[in-house]
Amino acid sequence: MLAPMAELSHRPLRELIEHFGGCDEYFTEMISAGALIGNGPFESFYTDNGPCPGKLVYQLVGADPGQLAAAAALLDRLDCKGIDINMGCSAPAITRTGAGVRWMADPDRAAAMIAQVRAITHRRLSVKLRIGMEDNFDYLVTFCRRLESEGVELITLHPRTGREKFKRRARWEYVDALHAALGIPVAGNGDIAGTEDLVRRAASGCCDAATYDGVMVGRAAVRAPWIFAAAKKVTGAILACPQANDAASSMDGVDDIDLEEVGLRFLDLLAKYQPPEFHISRARRFFNYFCDNLKWGTYVKNLLNRETALGGIAKTWPAYFREHPEDRETKAPALF
Ligand SMILES: Cc1cc2nc3c(=O)[nH]c(=O)nc-3n(C[C@H](O)[C@H](O)[C@H](O)COP(=O)(O)O)c2cc1C
Repeated sequence: MLAPMAELSHRPLRELIEHFGGCDEYFTEMISAGALIGNGPFESFYTDNGPCPGKLVYQLVGADPGQLAAAAALLDRLDCKGIDINMGCSAPAITRTGAGVRWMADPDRAAAMIAQVRAITHRRLSVKLRIGMEDNFDYLVTFCRRLESEGVELITLHPRTGREKFKRRARWEYVDALHAALGIPVAGNGDIAGTEDLVRRAASGCCDAATYDGVMVGRAAVRAPWIFAAAKKVTGAILACPQANDAASSMDGVDDIDLEEVGLRFLDLLAKYQPPEFHISRARRFFNYFCDNLKWGTYVKNLLNRETALGGIAKTWPAYFREHPEDRETKAPALF
């Protein structure tokens, strides 16, 4: 599954990922419940469910149960796979309002909010959360059981505390343990760095003795939008030929990728599917990760960050490959 990422998990990124073969579910970037019910000027871009509505999960963020329920009612009318509630965001601008991971500090309030949202939608209702504000697994299990009893059907755990943000490693053993403790599916998220990681994690979720039910990828899917296709190809080869123990490390996964072409295609998609007000911020966000594929990535990032319009980025990007043609192609999994 593609993780919800503000200013990144939008239609252009989904189009790019689909072009390589796609993933199973696309979570949108968090959508403010208040802005959605207030009919903000950009809401149609946040709720764009293309290119695969059947795989789309809308993520809502908010602190007010009534607003979240009203926003879920609006989303419920759109074609989608499900609705997710953000209980994991630890950005101060979000937690200050009582939203994101702040929900985890008050199980009664969180359970009552979920009951209210549950009452208005038959879509799959899920929650994405962290371990909690503190590192307390028993608290996490009790909290999640409350959500489960109110009708949550899937939990995605990013196994860090709210205070840790992106520090320390994601503690996947918590994902295993939560899966064992709950009756509903549990997915894991955090620190998948590349195709081999994804193949390894996904393997834990697809056998009879599954230790969890799904894997969600965030930043690595921006660096390598082909990661899901590459992982599926490698996994398929291992399933077809179990003796090939080292298949994951020896396979190319997907065909060589033309990085210049992917970057230009992203810019076209951005111009096509996002409003001009979003172009520069979204382009910077994307290239901030995508440039990690390049030998002189930091240099290119700096150049792109100076541009103030998509047209400038569309000139600077190919200019780099004229200087460094050797950087144009990459073999997908070998990078990481
Ligand atoms: C730029 C950025 C924006 C994010 N926005 C959201 C968001 O809108 N909702 C959410 O639940 N998590 C958000 N996250 C967290 C990711 O969904 C994910 O939990 C985190 O990046 C760890 O996964 P990764 O190591 O695969 O990137 C964001 C992360 C990043 C880097």
